[in-house]
Amino acid sequence: MKSGEPSHTGRDAFGSSFGVLVALAGSAVGLGNLWRFPYLVGENGGAAFILIYLGFVFLVGLPILLSEFIIGRRSQAAARGAFKVLAPGSRWSIAGVLAVLCCTLILSFYSVVGGWGIEYLLKALRFDFTSGKDAAFSTLFTSFTASSWKPLLCHTVFLAATALIVVFGVKNGIEKFSKVMMPVLFVIMLGIAVRSLTLPDAGAGIDYLFRPDWSKVSADTFLAALGQAFFSLSLGSGMVITYGSYVSRKENIVALSAKTAVADTLFALIAGCAIMPAVFAFGISPGEGPGLVFITLPYIFGQLPLGGFIAILFFLALLLAALTSSISVMEVIVAFCIEEFKLRRRAAVALCFAVLWVLGCLCSLSMGLLGDWKVFGKTIFDLFDFVSANVLMLVGGLLVVLFAGWKLGRKVVHDELTNSGALRIPEWFLDTLLFLIRYLAPAAIAVIAIFQWI
Ligand code: PHE
Repeated sequence: MKSGEPSHTGRDAFGSSFGVLVALAGSAVGLGNLWRFPYLVGENGGAAFILIYLGFVFLVGLPILLSEFIIGRRSQAAARGAFKVLAPGSRWSIAGVLAVLCCTLILSFYSVVGGWGIEYLLKALRFDFTSGKDAAFSTLFTSFTASSWKPLLCHTVFLAATALIVVFGVKNGIEKFSKVMMPVLFVIMLGIAVRSLTLPDAGAGIDYLFRPDWSKVSADTFLAALGQAFFSLSLGSGMVITYGSYVSRKENIVALSAKTAVADTLFALIAGCAIMPAVFAFGISPGEGPGLVFITLPYIFGQLPLGGFIAILFFLALLLAALTSSISVMEVIVAFCIEEFKLRRRAAVALCFAVLWVLGCLCSLSMGLLGDWKVFGKTIFDLFDFVSANVLMLVGGLLVVLFAGWKLGRKVVHDELTNSGALRIPEWFLDTLLFLIRYLAPAAIAVIAIFQWI
């Protein structure tokens, strides 16, 4: 079966190799790159964090990507079904259930932040960011997110847009949308990065991004970098298993995984180059935290020549990036519902929308009205973020590498990576990948998880 031909199982499938790549990169590149990465870089001291992050992406992220690909493509089934096909009658399918749970939590708060993106794009279109003091933007952000109905409305619109794309299926919805939007996103972000890098005082920001200061590194830097690698590459969430199940047996999954990791990293670095030089040029501290793109940037846009237009482009990019990711998260849950409950796609999307809408509303309200509802000292929003990104994704990642490396084993891994010998990949390279999958990735995840949870 070549990409473009219907899957032999009669399931929906990607239509072309480029389509698979943009869909995967679309899932990876999202709020993780444009919102989370810049503020984590800012909080963790810049270049040293970036280097540690890069190490994790290639030594831990890539083996997990490959393992998820192997599981999804070999089984041609969704997150839970994949384990049932490959290890019938075993308990491994719990890993699939955890992945679906993880995606449910992620999309609940992701849709709220995507909704903020809608509100900020509308503000940009009204040229609201052309003046004002830094503090005023901080008040604007906190009063908006803590208010009740407007963020809920924005969350509803964002989730509805996600559902609308997913309802059209893999080839006609997800792939088509990503094919058009990813190049647009790339051009916009590159344009903003060039503008920011050519600001008169851009030097300090560039230094911050590219000259490591190792004295700022602590155990927390490693935790934050690994968590970010997981979140940004969408690992341990069943996304690559699900998308992998729509990929033809002729695709080279080693090349696809490497290209996805490179594209995701490139976008993160471009986002860094778009934001940090401007932040430093205006003498602002980069450690603003999650409010960086919603508080600091609007202030900067107000100071820049033509900043009003740059603001429009930036928030448009943020929204597009968020949507190409949110559709992948929803697809994991929808594919699961279709397979497990034998629902039609439309019904599965409707069910998903309803559940996520309620959970998302709770996340949104936890920034204001429900701020006192706390579990383990965390608001609902923070709890969902923590449990998904810091617990379930790590557990999911650990389970997939153990499953691929040990349960499926060397022969299956070699078979999948070489398409049963059709691709010429040197034996030593395959063995190195297998080593990463079997030993290095599980060890790294286990060490980090233990540090994080104790
Ligand atoms: N990788 C996405 C981002 O960077 C988030 C995501 C997580 C998408 C898990 C799918 C699954 O924003």
